[in-house]
Amino acid sequence: MKDVIGELEERRAQASMGGGEKRIAAQHAKGKLTARERLDLLLDAGSFEEWDMFVEHRCNDFGMADQKVPGDGVVTGWGTVNGRLVFVFSQDFTVFGGSLSEPHAEKICKIMERAMQVGAPVIGINDSGGARIQEGVASLAGYAEVFQRNVLASGVVPQISMVMGPCAGGAVYSPAMTDFIFMVKDSSYMFVTGPDVVKTVTHEVVTHEQLGGAITHTTRSGVADLAFENDVEAIAELRRFIDFLPASNREKAPVLATQDPADRMEPSLDNLIPDNPNKPYDIKELIEKVVDEGHFFELQPAYAGNIVIGFARMEGHTVGIVANQPMVLAGCLDIDASKKAARFVRFCDCFNIPIVTFVDVPGFLPGTTQEYGGIIKHGAKLLFAYAEATVPKVTVITRKAYGGAYDVMSSKHIRGDVNYAWPTAEIAVMGPKGAVEIIFRGDLDDPAKIEARTQEYKTRFANPFVAAQRGFVDEVIRPHNTRKRVCGALRMLRGKELQNPWKKHDNIPL
Ligand code: HXC
Repeated sequence: MKDVIGELEERRAQASMGGGEKRIAAQHAKGKLTARERLDLLLDAGSFEEWDMFVEHRCNDFGMADQKVPGDGVVTGWGTVNGRLVFVFSQDFTVFGGSLSEPHAEKICKIMERAMQVGAPVIGINDSGGARIQEGVASLAGYAEVFQRNVLASGVVPQISMVMGPCAGGAVYSPAMTDFIFMVKDSSYMFVTGPDVVKTVTHEVVTHEQLGGAITHTTRSGVADLAFENDVEAIAELRRFIDFLPASNREKAPVLATQDPADRMEPSLDNLIPDNPNKPYDIKELIEKVVDEGHFFELQPAYAGNIVIGFARMEGHTVGIVANQPMVLAGCLDIDASKKAARFVRFCDCFNIPIVTFVDVPGFLPGTTQEYGGIIKHGAKLLFAYAEATVPKVTVITRKAYGGAYDVMSSKHIRGDVNYAWPTAEIAVMGPKGAVEIIFRGDLDDPAKIEARTQEYKTRFANPFVAAQRGFVDEVIRPHNTRKRVCGALRMLRGKELQNPWKKHDNIPL
């Protein structure tokens, strides 16, 4: 007995060393943690149960028969984060560069399937040279098996990708199909084709970092949600992030006790809106003053800043926040903002997270760039996402809600449940100046007349009361009471049940 236990310990110790001391040192020299060190930080102490530690590849080509490393380049299993079950895989760059072999893929698929069955999130840590070159098509098959499970798991359990090293070629499509992608600055990159191929094909000269680094994907492409300074910070934030999410689509997010009173007044909000309607203000100030303890976990802060998305809590319950940001492009909806918010709204709807929307939107961004880029289809994504969402939806219009963008931003007409407006709200087809210049075109050479018409329009339409008279806003509220009102609305809506008509799936304008 002693001997076999000894052998087990020996085998475990050997597997734990991955590709060996030299490669571990090389990993550290790049500022990266190893696959196991990452899991140690991510999971609650002592909670990790590793699966398939002794799995090896079955490849005999290119001298692989005598190069076997137990675990085959990925550490998989389950554990807890802040006491809650999660399934994990962590690619081990020290073993064949974390490249994906057939058994490596089988290990990932195994935990994904179990996660779907029991209803728990999947967290994948990507650090891989891509397809195991020696395996050829067997490796490609493995990727496709993972992709298939990413799709089946989508909307069933949250899937989060931590890209902490290379992730290139077709391999990017697994993270791309997960719900959130976090990256680490300077040590991770994602691209479909690397700098060498880019140079050959397009003659562009770019570095790995420029082409697909964390900054690129969180500022330009919008592929990733957040960029962190290093592995430790990324994992610490991931632990905080996961607390906002439910374990699966069958559950609600955990409720965290809060000391913040639901009826807390915030008098400073009464002065948030500048007297000049063309002057911006920071919508994040409103968000932070309204949510529990001012804690707002923003996603994609450096991409499409004209819309703000992220998670917060109200009375301890997770909410998804969507808000126009007047500080960027005057809060207009453009292609990037529409896509960013639409995907977030859909995530919230998949996972029973109520959506709180703060509206100050002058409309869709005009111009050929937007039209040629397909703002019609992309804007429709956000409209579609809000309109199909059946989770509780609470909307607060702080200032402008003009035109089609008014309809899109969780209006009453697309099943906004409780729609509030501040007295400063202007709900109309367009702003007074634009409106008068169209309907009184004949008076344009008479400034006095135009001014009188503009005043008339403002009095008639640039307020929340026309909408309130029609019941399109449920109540005009005082800004300082916003937290109390939103908390109350969400509390009232906690038992909401609403179902869309049966369909195989919808056909959102992609
Ligand atoms: C097998 C691989 C490998 C791979 C790296 N290694 N990538 N082994 N298959 N894809 C091995 C190396 O041989 C080396 O082994 C160890 O991992 C570390 O690699 P280095 O090159 O020394 O590391 P580094 O200098 O940091 O460079 C990392 C890298 C580079 C940029 C990822 O290794 C690289 O370019 N690899 C090939 C990437 C690639 O072309 N993959 C296929 C992409 S196509 P030793 O024994 O020396 O430690 C693809 C398609 C997916 O992935 C399709 C899905 C549908």
